[in-house]
Amino acid sequence: MSEAKFKQIAETIISRITSGYYPPNSKLPPHRVLADELNTTPVTVAKAYQRLAEQNRVESFVGRGTFVCGESKLSQVIHASEDDATEFNFSILQPCLSHNIAALQDAFQKTAPRITPQLIGYAEHSGHQQHRQVGVEWAARYGLAGGTVENTLLTDGAQNALALLLEALTKPGDTIAVESLTYPGILAIASLMRREVIGVEMDENGMTPDSLQQVLQTARPKVVIVVPSHQNPTGVTMPAARREIIAQLIRDSNVWLIEDDIYGFLNPEPIPAICNWLPEQGFHVTSLSKAISPALRCGFIKAPDAQVDTINAHIRANIWLSSPLNYQVAAELVSSGTAFELAQRQQRLAQQRQQIVQEILHPAPPHQYGYHIWLKLPQHWQPERFVQEAAKQHLLVSSGSYFAVRQPTDHIRLSLMSINSEARFREGLTQLKALMDTYTTSTLPFQV
Ligand SMILES: Cc1ncc(COP(=O)(O)O)c(C=O)c1O
Repeated sequence: MSEAKFKQIAETIISRITSGYYPPNSKLPPHRVLADELNTTPVTVAKAYQRLAEQNRVESFVGRGTFVCGESKLSQVIHASEDDATEFNFSILQPCLSHNIAALQDAFQKTAPRITPQLIGYAEHSGHQQHRQVGVEWAARYGLAGGTVENTLLTDGAQNALALLLEALTKPGDTIAVESLTYPGILAIASLMRREVIGVEMDENGMTPDSLQQVLQTARPKVVIVVPSHQNPTGVTMPAARREIIAQLIRDSNVWLIEDDIYGFLNPEPIPAICNWLPEQGFHVTSLSKAISPALRCGFIKAPDAQVDTINAHIRANIWLSSPLNYQVAAELVSSGTAFELAQRQQRLAQQRQQIVQEILHPAPPHQYGYHIWLKLPQHWQPERFVQEAAKQHLLVSSGSYFAVRQPTDHIRLSLMSINSEARFREGLTQLKALMDTYTTSTLPFQV
């Protein structure tokens, strides 16, 4: 084999990684498959993979294959479009904002006259007591027990909370256990902070106890992260009985739990938080982004009492405090009850959108309540190819590979709420369905 040949194959693979055709954490094709496609031998492909492994571009696991390493680029998963008129944005998980605008305008107006010197200065303990009370009430409404103004801390949204907690609870090289398909924001933090990630298998009730037990014993993670309600991306909600078992396993292993319950308000009835069984090991995270607006950047951590000072020190060192002005608006919305009404309205809207998805796409299994669906593509579509073809028709969807912790997936994630008008939403879904049903040469893998 000439040296030039395997270097050339390695470069081809790198250009595919760079273009997003092989996204971070996705599995590369088996040697023989890529060899056939690139008109070379499996030995040459193996040598190219080895070279890329030496350069930390890919990682091989015995019996599981070779996977792309690297930073999870959130901008490739989530497209924050500004043009609702020409694009169909199925990529971003946010509330239907047109329904919340009037209430937000009203809350800002009511808040303006109450701006005092105390409000616009620096505050102690991650923020004012009245603002921490917002987090206590919000989380308690949707299933968290034991939150107080002393143990509830304020962050710039849940993303900031996750980053602060991982920074505080782990160090570079430590392992974090997550659901085997998870929110790319978690993968991005781990990748930037150089933490290892291991996936825990899931079933229709979320993370499975057997897989968690195995991961706890073999990989010895420092932290387990669970998204228990309307999980991103699978849409699965963990019932109370499973939550109790997961809590028991975590308690017995003496690891930390980060419970990211940002979609908890979408449950038709509150489900007890896993943290309720783990007052000394569980960090509960939530925010107002999904029910009210991501622009508020109001996030909350309920920490074990003994950990409050440590987390506070990290908040101070990173941001000093979250904007009290935004929290003042949040306080107005929560104390008037408007926040809970908006949450309920978005919940109903999500149900209506799920019904429309049933009519047009017939996904299996059906979802009922969440903001998104995890959609299996027909066999003739490869997810990256589908995402690219959809984008040509201004349909923005998220490839499943960005959510996968080293496992192949033939799914995409569709957000149902970021298109404001129902008519546009139906139109976009109908176009997506037509594309899914299309067989063209463009569904075949790229030629080099
Ligand atoms: C599971 C999960 N956690 C956290 C976040 C980030 O939320 P925030 O806007 O509060 O930072 C998201 C946003 O999509 C999410 O899906």
